[in-house]
Amino acid sequence: MDRASPRGAMEGAIKAAVQGAGLGLRRSFMAELANSTLPGLPDFFEIAPENWMGMGGRYARQLREFTERYPFVCHGLSLSIGGHLPLDPVFLKDLRAFLDTHRIERYTEHLSYTTDDGHLYDLLPIPFTEAAADHVAARVRQVQEALGRRIALENVSYYAAPGAQMSELDFICRVLEKADCDLLLDVNNIWVNSINHGYDANAFLDALPVSRVAYIHIAGHYEEAPDLRVDTHGADVIPEVWQLLDRAYARCGAVPTLLERDFNIPPLPELLAEMGQIRQHQQAAATMGSRAREFGEMDAGARHAG
Ligand SMILES: [Fe+2]
Repeated sequence: MDRASPRGAMEGAIKAAVQGAGLGLRRSFMAELANSTLPGLPDFFEIAPENWMGMGGRYARQLREFTERYPFVCHGLSLSIGGHLPLDPVFLKDLRAFLDTHRIERYTEHLSYTTDDGHLYDLLPIPFTEAAADHVAARVRQVQEALGRRIALENVSYYAAPGAQMSELDFICRVLEKADCDLLLDVNNIWVNSINHGYDANAFLDALPVSRVAYIHIAGHYEEAPDLRVDTHGADVIPEVWQLLDRAYARCGAVPTLLERDFNIPPLPELLAEMGQIRQHQQAAATMGSRAREFGEMDAGARHAG
């Protein structure tokens, strides 16, 4: 799609698949983005469906214009995949209709639960136990059936792990396998958790099942103390987290990646510039990958000749 001429792109018949670098779509940026000639516009956008479902009027029309022009990912807030109240069939039906209306294939949720008294958005950690993994996996399968789509679960940041009988890593791997769903890999959450819970972020990343990584989040966080990081999405991404992204790309390829920014939001050009760094890391990963393949072929040729 031609990002430099949004009006022209609107007339295009087919949306591209989600790829490259994306941003969360904020209502406050919509007018600026719709008429923008800024360089480096996002390749895709992410929205929380709960913030848009059932909405009419001007914002609904604007959203439709965006979803006709750009690929989108939905990142749910309220499914409470680890919760104990039955999944809400009306919500799932409405969600599927919303995804179908806007031709959004990718739906993601947090591997956590919300308080069981309504759609409150505080995300709580699921106990890392075999029983909880079974429970979550069954609910994920139910959601995938209801939505007619494979979903991706996000590794979340957490600050206490009550009742844990296994590691966070084992828990994530168990759920993904039992549910047969994809992973939304949040590299900032790995970094934050590695500091707060004292593990090696690189080893954690290396042990995740690479074939399930469908989508990546990157974000900034707040350093409360040397041993306490808070996942705020309110600051620039730190170099250590960019390095984790490079490591993820080296394992998974340049998976579509979203820059999350929810607080202390800079002007759009600054946000686009930081998001543009994702593209640079993706291009570097692609170059490294093709060089590695060339060397591999040369090496194989030399061995064959020898
Ligand atoms: Fe995230």
